[in-house]
Amino acid sequence: MLKLGINIDHVATLRQQRRGQEPDPISAALLAETAGADSIVCHLREDRRHIQEQDLHILRGAIKTKLNLEMAASPEIIKIACQEKPDWVTLVPEKRAELTTEGGLDVEKRSGYLKDVVSEFRKSGIPVSLFIDADANQIEAAVKTGAETVELHTGRYADAATEKERDAELKKIAAGSNMAKSLGLKVAAGHGLDYRNVRPITRIPEIEELNIGYSIIGRAVFIGLEEAVREMIKLIRRGKC
Ligand code: PXP
Repeated sequence: MLKLGINIDHVATLRQQRRGQEPDPISAALLAETAGADSIVCHLREDRRHIQEQDLHILRGAIKTKLNLEMAASPEIIKIACQEKPDWVTLVPEKRAELTTEGGLDVEKRSGYLKDVVSEFRKSGIPVSLFIDADANQIEAAVKTGAETVELHTGRYADAATEKERDAELKKIAAGSNMAKSLGLKVAAGHGLDYRNVRPITRIPEIEELNIGYSIIGRAVFIGLEEAVREMIKLIRRGKC
């Protein structure tokens, strides 16, 4: 059954607008779990623009599903991750000026370093997922690092301006998923997925998990978080149970 990870960064973004207490990302995580989320995703950015270290620490103790920590492969965050022990980490590229993670990790270019990072995590008992574009060279490079999972970047698919472009991106994601699975990797996907564009992605059989944040938190403003999570679960599992 296709799993759903809920990214709660956007709740913390709103809280940080006033540096106040509300809305609380921990409460969001618990509500998402009640509604059926399979995992909770948060990104501890180097600039701490949304999730704070304390959030991560409380989340680790509070949630009952799985904690997926998104992070840059930087020594400072690696140290925190090894202390907090999320169920797995997803390594993403990070640029200070970006609004959100803009592209996949260039595993090819940083293969030696990432191999060392993956083995450091393995020593701490933490599996690693690499957030990459659905590109054959990146997938091959990901295998060589020893990572267990790749999360394929669906942002270009989500942002496609025309149907032709969108179909071409979908084909790349399907081919990448197939290749990754055949090379022994687990396959996840995410970024920019919403209630309108998610269905074609759910039909790719190799994808085991979707990680979605922005669209669900946005919908939650109007219908509440539990209902927004339930709607997405219904949508991604339609005909798949
Ligand atoms: N997966 C990864 C690796 C991400 O960086 C993000 C954004 O934080 C998401 C999934 C979720 O993207 P969105 O918020 O657009 O649903």
